[in-house]
Amino acid sequence: MSHQFPPHVVLCDVSPRDGLQNECKPISTTDKISLVQDLIDAGMPRIEVTSFVSPKAIPQMADAQEVMQGLTRRSGAELVVLVPNQKGAERALACQPDELNLVMSVTESHSKANLRMTPQESFERLQEVVVTTRDRVRLNVSLSCSFGCPFEGDVPAEQVLHWVRAFSELGVTGVSLCDTTGMAFPSQVRELVGRVQKLSQKSRITLHFHNSRGLGLTNVFEGLRAGVTHYDACTGGIGGCPYAPGASGNACMEDIVHAMHCEGIETGIDLDRLLKVSKDLGNLLEHPLSGQVVYAGPRSKTYALDQAKSQ
Ligand code: COA
Ligand code: ZN
Repeated sequence: MSHQFPPHVVLCDVSPRDGLQNECKPISTTDKISLVQDLIDAGMPRIEVTSFVSPKAIPQMADAQEVMQGLTRRSGAELVVLVPNQKGAERALACQPDELNLVMSVTESHSKANLRMTPQESFERLQEVVVTTRDRVRLNVSLSCSFGCPFEGDVPAEQVLHWVRAFSELGVTGVSLCDTTGMAFPSQVRELVGRVQKLSQKSRITLHFHNSRGLGLTNVFEGLRAGVTHYDACTGGIGGCPYAPGASGNACMEDIVHAMHCEGIETGIDLDRLLKVSKDLGNLLEHPLSGQVVYAGPRSKTYALDQAKSQ
């Protein structure tokens, strides 16, 4: 086992939320529940099940409550839901999630496009959520566009640190640095993570990468080298923000799990079962998914010699 990496990580599958919100085809509530249930059965320790947002903004998440209420829970699988405001928090709390993931964007343009308010207005709404819910549920905040913005380009690290500090002062120490449109690159990951770690020793950092430019898995490994233990990813590499031009799939969960297992990092996830979930998801969505291991199989897979064919 490598001593360069944390021995154990906690992965959160965000495909039922970040993944499905970006699909044009309507997905039935029953199919969403089956996806989450299959992820639980594969040993996924955390799942972002849905978002309690405006159904006009994201029609695909209109059945958030029905999905949450249709699940059979199992200890060891934490259920997270995303909320942008007090109305979302109230709707969510009625379904007893393990954690609320508050969302805001660190750039003015993406914030207005995605949430129809400035970062400051967004923070003020979330501040209200924090004050009214922090005694009842665990909280995390996701900072969109932490590694770059599709409208504004580079985002200064200080702009991200400002919001990390603001939430930390409210007692929210779970922070997700989200690479909403796949702009992060390894040395930037190292620098931003280092600065957040320095700012608050107590922070639980989650890294959330998209693979829009092929750097998802590389960035995860940069996070591992920096000691980060929490990552978001999507089974099948599906996903993306409908309000961020050029946003495409999240870093692929099964490819990450495979790579981590190769390095002896424990995830608690049954890779074979997860690969089956990915295949089923491909059938459900009726388009090819972007993972690699689901096609090639794990590296432990060997072939009989007579299967060799000259290409
Ligand atoms: N859940 C359900 N409905 C909600 C809601 C929530 N969390 N928040 C607001 N609404 C409803 C209001 O009740 C109101 O309904 P009405 O028109 O029937 O009266 C309507 O939405 C508008 O409310 P308002 O507070 O003016 O919101 P808005 O139109 O300015 O939109 C957000 C702001 C944040 C609610 C909306 O942009 C949103 O949900 N965005 C989420 C985007 C997203 O999920 N992106 C991907 C994840 S990063
Ligand atoms: Zn995302």
